[in-house]
Amino acid sequence: MAVSRMKLKKLEGHLQSVEVFDNPKILLEQYPTTPHIASVMLHEIQTKFNDIDGCTVLDLGCGCGVLSIGSVMLGATYVLGIDVDEEALEVCQKNLDDFDILNVDLLQQDIVNISPKDVKCASENIFSKKFDTVIMNPPFGTKKNAGIDMEFVKAGLMMSTNAVYSLHKSSTREHLRKKAKDWGVSIEILGQFKFEIADTFKCHKQKVVCIDVDFVRFGNK
Ligand SMILES: C[S@@+](CC[C@H](N)C(=O)[O-])C[C@H]1O[C@@H](n2cnc3c(N)ncnc32)[C@H](O)[C@@H]1O
Repeated sequence: MAVSRMKLKKLEGHLQSVEVFDNPKILLEQYPTTPHIASVMLHEIQTKFNDIDGCTVLDLGCGCGVLSIGSVMLGATYVLGIDVDEEALEVCQKNLDDFDILNVDLLQQDIVNISPKDVKCASENIFSKKFDTVIMNPPFGTKKNAGIDMEFVKAGLMMSTNAVYSLHKSSTREHLRKKAKDWGVSIEILGQFKFEIADTFKCHKQKVVCIDVDFVRFGNK
């Protein structure tokens, strides 16, 4: 137990060095996962479910890569990070270089607004690729993009053989349960965090609000 706690603190310490977005794009909901939340999530995924060490991992909406980098630190054999935003991927690649991480590939791809049959990667359909574990902190879905978090989960379930770990506004918990039932997958709420995000729709000036967020596991089997 003491060893696990030490590993958690050590992981959080390393993740403090991950650079974040230079110019966060509000419409892409680019709020980075804090080193504390990322390390607690990844540590729980590994110690409770053994779903990182020795696994292939997909990081959907990888942003600057804090979840990808933490996964490698916990023993992932290979990680693919996908994001729609080129600038975020540039920061992510710089982070990977700074950490001397070689087993993470990055792919620029909109995972929501293109039909799966049109999405090609190395002449294969990207949605046909399979990973042991999918992790993500998706856009939560503003008034403009309501439901985008569930589109991310749907894509994650398509591409995972095992489980999808994700963050969602706690206020949507019952909706999540209903969706999981419709999709025939298991759902477990693993914990809750306080998350700071930019609130752009209540006023024109950017304002930061603190919301309750669920840490959720969707099980494919
Ligand atoms: C909340 S941020 C999380 C970033 C990073 N995973 C982290 O944990 O710090 C959501 C990420 O999803 C990306 N994103 C937003 N819409 C997307 C889309 N349609 N397809 C792919 N990525 C998208 C954003 O660019 C952003 O990097």
